[in-house]
Amino acid sequence: MVDMPSLVHGGRVSTFIDLLVVSNGVRRRGVGTTLVQVALERARARGAYKVSLYFHDRNDPARQLYASMGLRPTGEAHAMYLT
Ligand SMILES: CC(C)(COP(=O)(O)OP(=O)(O)OC[C@H]1O[C@@H](n2cnc3c(N)ncnc32)[C@H](O)[C@@H]1OP(=O)(O)O)[C@@H](O)C(=O)NCCC(=O)NCCS
Repeated sequence: MVDMPSLVHGGRVSTFIDLLVVSNGVRRRGVGTTLVQVALERARARGAYKVSLYFHDRNDPARQLYASMGLRPTGEAHAMYLT
């Protein structure tokens, strides 16, 4: 998790989750849900006004996980992977 300062929203931070990964052998047991819950709690405790993340548009497990936790699409991400 990374907090990004904001010049608006009263100076509250925006928290970005770079990558969430659960080991193959323990998926579908609620680990991802717990990790997102903890991330949201920590962001709230730090006064963040928003939590955001990216995932590939064909990543249905991620889409379903985040949707089940109340995260909603807010736009289209544009990225370039630098090698
Ligand atoms: C996405 C990921 C983090 C989910 O972790 P997890 O521990 O398996 O998730 P949970 O057990 O908490 O699942 C919560 C809900 O997410 C959805 N979900 C999770 N995996 C799913 C899958 N393979 N297919 C469809 N829905 C899925 C379901 O709605 C699930 O609830 P349910 O099990 O009651 O149906 C895991 O699959 C992963 O590490 N994937 C590879 C990395 C990745 O894509 N990360 C996300 C991009 S940042």
